[in-house]
Amino acid sequence: MRVEPIAGALGAEIIGVDLSRDLSDATVAEIRRVWLEHLVVFFRDQDLPPARLLAFAHRFGEPIEYPFVKGLDEFPQIIPVLKLEHETINFGGIWHSDTTYLDVPPMASMLVAREVPPAGGDTEFANMYLAYETLSDGLKRVLDGLVAVNSSAAADVSRTREDRLKDSARADARKEYVAAHPVVRVHPETGRRALYVNVAHTVRFEGMTEEESRPLLQYLFRQQTRPELTCRFRWRAGSLAMWDNRCAQHNAINDYQGHRRLLHRITLAGDKPKGP
Ligand code: SIN
Repeated sequence: MRVEPIAGALGAEIIGVDLSRDLSDATVAEIRRVWLEHLVVFFRDQDLPPARLLAFAHRFGEPIEYPFVKGLDEFPQIIPVLKLEHETINFGGIWHSDTTYLDVPPMASMLVAREVPPAGGDTEFANMYLAYETLSDGLKRVLDGLVAVNSSAAADVSRTREDRLKDSARADARKEYVAAHPVVRVHPETGRRALYVNVAHTVRFEGMTEEESRPLLQYLFRQQTRPELTCRFRWRAGSLAMWDNRCAQHNAINDYQGHRRLLHRITLAGDKPKGP
């Protein structure tokens, strides 16, 4: 196994592993170590039809269903992330950590590319450890004591689901999910502190109004996705990305109008976020 970082802040490609085979415990442990260090890992040219993708996911955690979009008929934990030629809105086209409006948000997500546009449709990732660590000590102290309210119904992110919900909405989805989480999350495996607010879902600080919360939240949203905290991944059919939602955010770039893009996504169960 060879590891090649793709940017200074986060992201590494793992070369020399065939994920369709039965992986040894030692290989899985090494992938997990590299993943915890780099926050998002990428594999190229993988042959992972749904059953094999699910088997690979089970080596890292427990696959769970997504609240808004139906999964594949035989594999409800796998959702298609699809944009059709005539559609203009892309799923997940805003910086976010997955479903932070749930009381227990997912630990990780993985995407495998099935069909990609001739150009564009890259995904960006950002390092939330660095987003926290590069703040002043004074602001860190303020944030360490705050809790944020996260909602599934914030307008900008609701829009990114519109096209997908036309034909794939789950009948049992609630109108809104809301959860309060610490603004600074202590990663349960690494013990490092990460900034745990995001522009898609975080609406206010607990105990404050949206208007009162907005100036500081907007500062944090700008701060946490500065280019030097990010990496950008160019997909090919058969590429797989696996990221850590506890300390990384992602953003699907919507720059391929008129072309089709299809990926399969699995999320893995997490734990209840804990503050410092
Ligand atoms: C997502 O937010 O999971 C979708 C990311 C992508 O399509 O690149």
